[in-house]
Amino acid sequence: MNPTITQMTNRSTVRKLDPSREIPKDILENILRATQQSPTYTSGQQYSIIVVDDKVKKEKIADQTISSAGVRMEFIHEAPIFLLFIMDFNKIDQALAYENTDPEIFNTIENILIGTVDVGIAAEAATVAAESYGLGTVMVGALRKSTETLIKDFNLPKYCIPLLGLAIGYPSKEMVQYPDPSYKVTPRFPLEYLVHYNNYEKKDLKKHFEDYNIIMKEHFLRKRGLDSTWTAYMTRYYSKPFNKELLTIYQKQGFNF
Ligand SMILES: Cc1cc2nc3c(=O)[nH]c(=O)nc-3n(C[C@H](O)[C@H](O)[C@H](O)COP(=O)(O)O)c2cc1C
Repeated sequence: MNPTITQMTNRSTVRKLDPSREIPKDILENILRATQQSPTYTSGQQYSIIVVDDKVKKEKIADQTISSAGVRMEFIHEAPIFLLFIMDFNKIDQALAYENTDPEIFNTIENILIGTVDVGIAAEAATVAAESYGLGTVMVGALRKSTETLIKDFNLPKYCIPLLGLAIGYPSKEMVQYPDPSYKVTPRFPLEYLVHYNNYEKKDLKKHFEDYNIIMKEHFLRKRGLDSTWTAYMTRYYSKPFNKELLTIYQKQGFNF
């Protein structure tokens, strides 16, 4: 183990953040600079980050971002910094206009994938960078429920879509275990269910679910006060389509696929 591997292996989402402890400016800047050096598709940098430290704006995002269990995500306004990650093809649109060319890519699903991957990579880089300072983080995909409002509230131009948030702050005192190594990380599937060598090996997961459901039920209860097995939690999420309005909103923002 080296320090990077140790940090990444022991990390966990921290949903109790200390609102009274500001993040020093130089630390935030280092996090943003490290994030900026992430790889991006064809060096296009198809994303932007909005640093939200305005209390009223954070409060409004928290008001609109309710979890699937109907719970308000308090950590959004408790976090001194909330990073809003935007899929941003406005820059590419301007680059192509500079070259007097029409951006036909905006009529395909491919650009959505490019922008989504760029945002995901950057958000993870920001997470690792923040955690290297002992900060706690929460990624927030639930904000996509309020995509249209966020577009208005943050003046997003054409070809820009808010995809993900990252709440960053010092873990609150209730999180005394963090980042103590005894603090339990969220259990994952055993590596053999994640990694395949040279070929995808389809596995019957039924037996594995029995064990994992027991482990995760205990974990969900302890960490999130949630009484659910893993398979039941997944079923709650994926049995019905959600955020169906996104197609229309994306079209309004210029993505005409
Ligand atoms: C794309 C993405 C979106 C997420 N959105 C939310 C969210 O809206 N609210 C939340 O509490 N956690 C969110 N999370 C955090 C996950 O719930 C968390 O990473 C997962 O439960 C595993 O736990 P761990 O990070 O502690 O290992 C998100 C994570 C990712 C990668």
